[in-house]
Parts: sequence; C-alpha cells; structure tokens
Amino acid sequence: MKILAIETSCDETAIALVEAKEGLSSSTSSGLRFKILKNLVASQIKVHQPFGGIVPNLAKREHLKNLPILFKKIAVNGHAINPDIVAVTVGPGLEPCLWTGINFTKELYKKSKIIGVSHLEGHLYSFLISKRKIEFPAISLLVSGGHTILLLMKDLNHYKKLGETRDDAVGEAFDKVGRLLGLPYPAGPIIEKFAKKGNPEAVNFPRPMINQKNYDFSFSGLKTAVFYYLKNQEERFLADIAASFQAAAFDVLISKTLRAAQEYGVKSISISGGVAANKTLQKQFKLRIKNLKLKIDFLAPPKFLCTDNAAMIAVAGYINYLKEKKRRLTANGNLSI
Ligand code: KG4
Ligand code: ZN
Repeated sequence: MKILAIETSCDETAIALVEAKEGLSSSTSSGLRFKILKNLVASQIKVHQPFGGIVPNLAKREHLKNLPILFKKIAVNGHAINPDIVAVTVGPGLEPCLWTGINFTKELYKKSKIIGVSHLEGHLYSFLISKRKIEFPAISLLVSGGHTILLLMKDLNHYKKLGETRDDAVGEAFDKVGRLLGLPYPAGPIIEKFAKKGNPEAVNFPRPMINQKNYDFSFSGLKTAVFYYLKNQEERFLADIAASFQAAAFDVLISKTLRAAQEYGVKSISISGGVAANKTLQKQFKLRIKNLKLKIDFLAPPKFLCTDNAAMIAVAGYINYLKEKKRRLTANGNLSI
C-alpha cells in the first residue's frame, strides 16, 4: 500500500511517498514494515534566519511556492502518482501553514482518500521507519521546537500523556539561548557542536523540576539563568556555556524519562523530534540506562527522521488508517484485521 504524505505545519515543506507492508501487531511493531520511496524536504531556514525565528506569513508564502515544486518532483515520469492513501498534517502547528497544506491536498485528491494526521503522532511513530521492532510497554519522549511531552505507550494503538512542559519546549529553549549567545536560528545543532568542545560542569545551571514527582518539565527558568549568567560575567566561554546549558536541559529530560521508565516497568524508551537528533542526548541516555543496569532498549530515529519530514506523517497516516479499519470491522462483529 502506497501512502503519499504532505507536511506544512511549521517551516519545512515536505512531501513523501512511503510503502507500507502487512498489518498491525498490537504487542510489538514487528508486523509493520515501511519503505521510504521518496522523502523531500524544502527547508525555509534561510528565509527565517534574519528574523531569529519563524515568521508565519513568510512560512505560508514559502509553502505555497514549494508545494507544487516538490509535488512535481515526486511524480513518476511526469505523471502524478495515484497513492492508496493520502495523509496530511492537520495540527498542531501554525494555522496559515497547516491550511496551505490541507487545501493543496484537497485540490489534488478526493476527500475519501485523505487522512488528517497529528504532527505529534508523526514524531511519536517515526521510530517505526527504522527496521527495528519495539517491545511494549514503552516510554516515548517527544522533544521538538514546539513540544516536550512524555508518553507511556501500552502498545501502538494506546498511549497516554504522563507530562509535558509548562512553558518553553526544550528546542525553543535551545533556540532562545542561541539568540542570547548570538547564534543563528535554529540554534540546537550549533549549540550541540559548541558543547562538544566545552566543559558541561563549568557553570552549574539549574535543573528545573528535576526532583518533582510529576512528569512535567519547565525550561524558561533555565533560559533566564543563562541570561543572568551572561549579564554578570565579563569573560564568556561560549563552548562552556553551551555545554553547561545542554547538560542541565538533558539531565532533566533523562532523569524524568528514566524515572517514568522504572515506575511503569517499560521494555523500551523511544525519543523523537528535532532535539532527539542530538548525539550527546542519545549517548547520555544509553550511558545512564547502562549505569543503572536497566534492561531497556533505547531507540532514536536517524537525524533526517527526527527533524520535521513527511515520511513520519505517512507512517502515522497508515496507523490511523489501520485503526479506523479495525474499528469498522469490530463494529461489524469481525475482530480480525
Ligand atoms: O521537530 P522539529 O524539526 O520541529 C518542530 O516540530 O518543532 O524540531 C526543531 C527544533 C529546533 O528548536 C531546533 O533547534 C532543535 O529542534 N534541534 C536540536 C538539534 N537539531 C534540531 N536541538 C538540539 N540539538 C540538535 N542537534
Ligand atoms: Zn516537529
């Protein structure tokens, strides 16, 4: 079954064509196989960089310009492809951007083929594209520019939110601290690079909410702590500040995720979203799982599937399609899919 997916929720215009094989197994993802046939992303970073963040109307203009270009590139021998399912991101995201993608999709395909997909479910299910299977229950940490959410997954179909950020998302904190340090948007990958050369213990930045029993997060205080540190410090070592900020942010993310993993006795931890592309975060997770002698599998998608893309929207679209199919069959008294 071929799925065409369109993603325009923020500052990346993305179209993908993904092939899905076999049905849905409820306890592991082993019954599912995805093959990316095409995965095109037109980045708008250069357009927004002079403004230090995303300008929604500029993003919409770029989506309008880029969608037909990408769609033409995905065509086979000049013919528009005829997928079995069409998936489009319907939220959360920037309203004018989302509608650009939705209207473009509606003009091209009949309503019956279109499945609306949550951008967050796209990130959540992105691990499915890599070939490995996941053992449930699992804890999923979604860390992007707009969200920081901790979820408990009973299986592929059932998950619940354990906690989320009460203010800034962790990616947003990276971008805001980057601005304080005079770095261009998006600052996450640049801070990661600087941090590699710095001492993570140079500045003892706060670890907000790390000892609170709940699974919520808060990153705006950490950003403010960097602001005051820079204000009061004459000598500034960019690499040390980057490393110390990153260490504080990751300490909270990892500590709370591991505590949830132990409390719920999970077999796997999966991370997703732009910040999940950070190799130091991935290494720290693996190290702390090992040090605690936990028998937990750790999954992080490859970098191109962490940041916004349409392949993950195709996967989430297919899962929604299977869920709907199962619901209809169950309603008819037939439980097998
Ligand atoms: O998932 P994503 O592409 O878009 C949203 O859905 O928000 O995430 C973008 C965010 C930005 O805040 C960016 O600074 C951050 O992810 N990011 C990183 C890294 N790569 C991207 N943060 C830390 N380290 C990275 N290597
Ligand atoms: Zn995203």
